[in-house]
Amino acid sequence: MLVVGIESSAHTFGVGVARNGKILANEKSMYRIGTTGMIPAKVAQFHSENAGEVIERALAVARIEFEDIEGIGYTMGPGIGHCLQVGALSAKTIAKMLHIPIVPVNHAVGHVEIVRHISRLKDPLALYVSGGNSQILKKAPGAYPHYKVLGETFDIGIGNMLDSFAREMKLDPAWGSSVEKKAVGGRYMRMPYTVKGMDFSFTGLLTHSIKQIGKENGRDICFSLQETAFSMLCEATERALLLTNSSELEVCGGVAQNSRLREMLASIAKEHCARFGFVEKQYDADNGAMIAVVAEKMLKDGMAVKIGDCGILQRYRIDKARLAGA
Ligand code: FE2
Repeated sequence: MLVVGIESSAHTFGVGVARNGKILANEKSMYRIGTTGMIPAKVAQFHSENAGEVIERALAVARIEFEDIEGIGYTMGPGIGHCLQVGALSAKTIAKMLHIPIVPVNHAVGHVEIVRHISRLKDPLALYVSGGNSQILKKAPGAYPHYKVLGETFDIGIGNMLDSFAREMKLDPAWGSSVEKKAVGGRYMRMPYTVKGMDFSFTGLLTHSIKQIGKENGRDICFSLQETAFSMLCEATERALLLTNSSELEVCGGVAQNSRLREMLASIAKEHCARFGFVEKQYDADNGAMIAVVAEKMLKDGMAVKIGDCGILQRYRIDKARLAGA
């Protein structure tokens, strides 16, 4: 089945094409945040202006015609309402024009499943780390198969924490990736560390780090912030790995692109003889391919939805999303 997936939950408008589990295209266009963060109406306008071009580019890369599309999926949530609407409307229009089935997809499920799919993992423990989310997940089978949240952030997602710090430090671009670059060669300083069982909190660490700007060396603050935040995630993940007796571990979401976090998790996996799954960076960042891959599985599992019932859900938690083929 040839399926197109549209992702538009935040700064990225992404379009992926998948056929029988093979990714044929993964094109995107990303809003540049600058120093103001994301203003929903402005990001949505950017998506509206770029949607057509990104869709055309994805079809060209996949070497298919518009009429070849047999099914379509879009991100239902979680995400920014204005932005989600652009992707939902694009998908509904295509479904209506081509008379093809459509399915709403949970964004977090997309992140977890694309790594599981590409890394060929069966039943991994997943650390999902992105702007708005930081969760430790494990599939719960049964009558309503879904991802169970074993641990999560008490306050903000680690990605938002790193981006907020990057803005305060006036790094350009103001992303977590700039914090990673700046951290190279830094020296460790003690910072607030909050883990409760398999949950964690980042606001105390963020506030403390911001207070150090101008007082301590910027490289040292970036290094210590990363080491502390990632150690918190790793402690909770290692606990979950042992409690669930998992033989596979994966990291997914935008922050999974960070090399230091991957290194720390790989060493935990090795110590507990677990396979470690990660993917190339284009599939960790928000992307349409993850939506296309999940949508194809859902459509094959008979989970298509009437166009009139295709809405958005800004606070769509992963544990409320039914999984296909589980
Ligand atoms: Fe995401």
